[in-house]
Amino acid sequence: MSDTFFRLDEKVAVVTGGGQGIGEAICRRLAAAGAKVGVLDLSAENAKRVADALHGQALVGDITKEADIERMFKEVESGLGPVDILVNNAGVASRAKRDLPIWELERADWEFVFNINVIGLVLCCKAVLPGMIARKYGRIVNVASVAGKEGNPRMGPYSASKAAVIALTKSLAKELSGTGNVTVNSISPAVIQTPILDQLDQKTIDYMISKIPMGRTGKPEEVAALIHYLVSAEASFTTGQCYDITGGRSVY
Ligand SMILES: NC(=O)c1ccc[n+]([C@@H]2O[C@H](COP(=O)([O-])OP(=O)(O)OC[C@H]3O[C@@H](n4cnc5c(N)ncnc54)[C@H](O)[C@@H]3O)[C@@H](O)[C@H]2O)c1
Repeated sequence: MSDTFFRLDEKVAVVTGGGQGIGEAICRRLAAAGAKVGVLDLSAENAKRVADALHGQALVGDITKEADIERMFKEVESGLGPVDILVNNAGVASRAKRDLPIWELERADWEFVFNINVIGLVLCCKAVLPGMIARKYGRIVNVASVAGKEGNPRMGPYSASKAAVIALTKSLAKELSGTGNVTVNSISPAVIQTPILDQLDQKTIDYMISKIPMGRTGKPEEVAALIHYLVSAEASFTTGQCYDITGGRSVY
C-alpha cells in the first residue's frame, strides 16, 4: 500500500496546452503536489508565464510538428529529467467559429481538429513511451470530452476526434498492460469555463450547459483534481478507463 498520499515529489510531468485554461490548472496542481512541470504550449508568452510561476520549464512549440516534439522532449529531459507523467491536454474545438453541421464543413475543418486532438496527442505519447517502458513506470492521461461519448451537434470533428482519443487510450492501455506500471487513462469533461469557448457560438455553449444536471459549467481546478489522482503512484490498478467529469451529464 502506498503511503505517498498523492505527492508527486521528484516526478517530472509534461502538460501539453499548459499555458492557459484546464492545462494551466493542471500544471499548478501537479506543481503544488511536488512535481517538476514542463509547460508545453504554442504560446511562448503563456508557457513562460505559467512555468515561471511554478519554477517549471517552458516548452514552446506545436504538437503537430515532429521536429518541435523532438526538440521539446529533449529540452525537458535535459532540463528536468526523464518524463514520468504526460498529460495530453492540448486541444481545439474547431477552426474558429466553424461550429457548423457536418454537411457544411470542409476537409480542412476535419484536418485542423484531428491533427491537433489526435495526431499531436499520439506524437507526444510516442515521445515518452520508450523511456517509460524502459523505466517500468509512467502515467499518461489524455483529455477527451463528453462530446466523444455523446456526439455534440455542430461539433462533428471535435466529437469524432475525442471519441478517437477515448478508443486509442484503450488500445494503448492494453498494449502497455504487460509493462506492469505504465498506465494510460482518459477523462471526459463537460463544458468547462476556459478560453476554448471563444471558438464556439453562444448557442452551442448554451446547448452544452443545458445538458448538465448540475446546471453550471465546470471549473478547471475540478478537472485538475481528477487528473492529479490519475497521475499519482496510487492509481496503479487502473488503466484504459475514461473518467467522467460532467456534473452528471453522462453517468456511464
Ligand atoms: N473547456 C471545455 O469546455 C472542455 C470540455 C471538454 C474537454 N476539453 C478539453 O480540454 C483540453 C483543454 O481545453 P481548454 O478549455 O483549457 O482549452 P484552451 O483553448 O483554453 O487551451 C488549450 C491550450 O492548448 C494550446 N494548444 C492548442 N494547439 C496546440 C498545439 N498544436 N501545440 C501546442 N499547444 C497547443 C493552446 O495554445 C492553449 O494554450 C482540450 O483538449 C479540450 O478539448 C475542454
